[in-house]
Amino acid sequence: MSKLSTQWNALKAHAKSLEDKNLRALFAEDSNRADKLSLEAEGILLDYAKQRVDPTAMNLLAALATAAGVEAKRDSMFAGAIFNNTEGRAVLHTALRDPKTGSARASGPETGDLVHAELVKLRQFANDVRNGKYSSSTGATFSDVVNIGIGGSDLGPVMVTGALAPYCDGPRLHYVSNVDSAHLSDTLKNLNAETTLFIIASKTFTTIETMTNALSARDWVSEKVGAERAGLHFAAVSTALEKVQAFGIDSSRVFGFWDWVGGRYSVWSAIGLPVMIAAGPENFDQFLAGAHEMDEHFRQAPLLENAPVLLGLLGIWNRNILAHSTRAVLPYDQRLARFPAYLQQLDMESNGKGVTRDGDLVTTDTGPVVWGEPGTNGQHAFYQLIHQGTTVIPCEFLIAAKSHEPHLQQHQSLLIANCLAQSEALMNGRTAEEARAAMQGKSESEIDALLPHKVFPGDRPSLTIAYEQLTPKMLGKLIALYEHRVFVEGAIWDINPFDQWGVELGKELATQLLPMVLGEQSVEQKDSSTAALVKYLSNT
Ligand code: F6P
Repeated sequence: MSKLSTQWNALKAHAKSLEDKNLRALFAEDSNRADKLSLEAEGILLDYAKQRVDPTAMNLLAALATAAGVEAKRDSMFAGAIFNNTEGRAVLHTALRDPKTGSARASGPETGDLVHAELVKLRQFANDVRNGKYSSSTGATFSDVVNIGIGGSDLGPVMVTGALAPYCDGPRLHYVSNVDSAHLSDTLKNLNAETTLFIIASKTFTTIETMTNALSARDWVSEKVGAERAGLHFAAVSTALEKVQAFGIDSSRVFGFWDWVGGRYSVWSAIGLPVMIAAGPENFDQFLAGAHEMDEHFRQAPLLENAPVLLGLLGIWNRNILAHSTRAVLPYDQRLARFPAYLQQLDMESNGKGVTRDGDLVTTDTGPVVWGEPGTNGQHAFYQLIHQGTTVIPCEFLIAAKSHEPHLQQHQSLLIANCLAQSEALMNGRTAEEARAAMQGKSESEIDALLPHKVFPGDRPSLTIAYEQLTPKMLGKLIALYEHRVFVEGAIWDINPFDQWGVELGKELATQLLPMVLGEQSVEQKDSSTAALVKYLSNT
């Protein structure tokens, strides 16, 4: 029996008691529902009134979090304990955005000093590239920067660069992640090697995709500016400084971070260098400051007034109590187009685990499938299934009050109206009577034929995260909000959200398969399907 079975059973029993009330009924019986089931904190309005919960459910969820030791676990992470137990590492991405040098909360008094010393170097380099003080091998100011990295060494900076487009006034940024030659080739096609700087970003500096792209990029630059000058077009970000040195990048352009920063939590570290170059160090500082404010809120606010905790609890409710296996993240903010992809790594690489911290099989479902696309585009693509399909998908909408284009106010008003319309439609659906009334003018037989198609079941849960504007500071808060949400869920499931052993097997097998694909080794030892595919792909 799980040590939390009392709490889980209480939640299940309560969910049963709510079963015959749909969201319409829950709103009808409590005119203060929106007040009770929403939170304003750190400039964010979190409206979860359209979730299938009530205050009792929230109290029971908070009791579950308490029994699971969420607060103690949170404090031990912030204090620098070896929270990533399977890799024997502390988890201190929060120290990267802590303005207090030598923070006592970090794993040692020197942690803050390390962070801030590296930030000084990063700011200097970013400014030098921006103002041309650090110029290319031909003396030209860099017009373009290509970040070569993958996973956490790519998704964070890509997403943030897109999100902060109105603040980007430095060189143009490009990202190459996929080992598919198309990615590098299509990116380089329109670039001038003489004015292009490459940042090789890899925590381990061994990731095969990144190393392969880096070597090909170096060949490309060498061909254009000469091998002896090519090195001037490269900088690197890594925790493996000796490996970077072996690659041949001058130490003045190598920026470090530490093993206590997980790849998917690393955008706050030197991995954010491309963002700093594009948007400037001051905006990057604001981004860090926003995340720090969310950290403080997460550390201090009581459970039911704590935005990341609330998000985590609602995640648990939907995943474990209502058995919804996916959640959609739907930013009504075009510049957050890559946010769902970013969250896929953050959430699914963290909480896609089947054993507890101690290695026992989990007794509940863990991380859901996270996916999404920006609205309003998704409305014209997959929302049909969300509204009328047979699978219930809890939706998370993100929306700003203000755009960065005040001269196009009509667009923002339409965006807001669409976002709110979707959550309203998901909640209320459309009854047969309402559908019938909306078809006035049609014949009775037409109405009867169309009616089943025009009825929406409704009662589909969503929540809305609203904020004033997508500034660097707000973006920092939103990312930290989701980071801590993942933490809360992982703490309740008692899994380690900070390792990723599951991705290793594929890497090992790819290494084994490469000589077979190259025709250097026989495929006979492989299963017949893999062997046939290798033969087909190598001989076609
Ligand atoms: O394959 C998974 C992973 O290890 C991620 O966790 C990480 O963000 C990514 O690969 C890239 O790793 P690195 O920064 O070491 O190249």
